[in-house]
Amino acid sequence: SDPDPLQDFCVADLQSTASINGFPCKPQSTVNSSDFFFSGFTKEGNTSNPFGAIVTPGNVLSFPGLNTLGISMNRVDFAPGGLNPPHSHPRASESGVVIQGKLLVGFITTRNVFYSKVLGPGEMFVIPRGLVHFQKNVGEGKALAFTAFNSQLSGAVVAAPNLFGATPAVPNNVLAQAFQIDDSLVNQIKSKFMP
Ligand code: GLV
Ligand code: MN
Repeated sequence: SDPDPLQDFCVADLQSTASINGFPCKPQSTVNSSDFFFSGFTKEGNTSNPFGAIVTPGNVLSFPGLNTLGISMNRVDFAPGGLNPPHSHPRASESGVVIQGKLLVGFITTRNVFYSKVLGPGEMFVIPRGLVHFQKNVGEGKALAFTAFNSQLSGAVVAAPNLFGATPAVPNNVLAQAFQIDDSLVNQIKSKFMP
């Protein structure tokens, strides 16, 4: 859903101080083959975190050759039981394919309808743009998936840290009222997500 390119390529100059929509192109004379290949997905991500899952992004920030091309991918690794927690992408729909393991993949619509399925190797899913979704490893061993986006930088709003780990903090009374819980529970959740 990104804007169309106006030239063959525009390898991002990530150092530029120019403030534009996206990134300016680095000079063509400095572009070479290495700008169009990315080796960041060759290694398994480190899943030693409270969620047991890790996203390795192949977006314009890690792979500047994607600039203006409107696409990107992630590698997602899961320990047994690992969860890529509920999140949404403001600028892209997502498709994905499971390479290894068994993943419960689900999303929730604007009408609060939950769609989900357990997928195995070779099976593909789609997450409509902007909808909250997650993947959970429900198999015995590790799991691996690759995801793809129609944006060079899809953005990810991760629900729990977005609300409970914001800087400056969202007031406790707002969160208590929104979730219909008491102040001490807000503090308990905040303690897990405050940076
Ligand atoms: C998975 O949901 C991803 O955003 O890569
Ligand atoms: Mn996603």
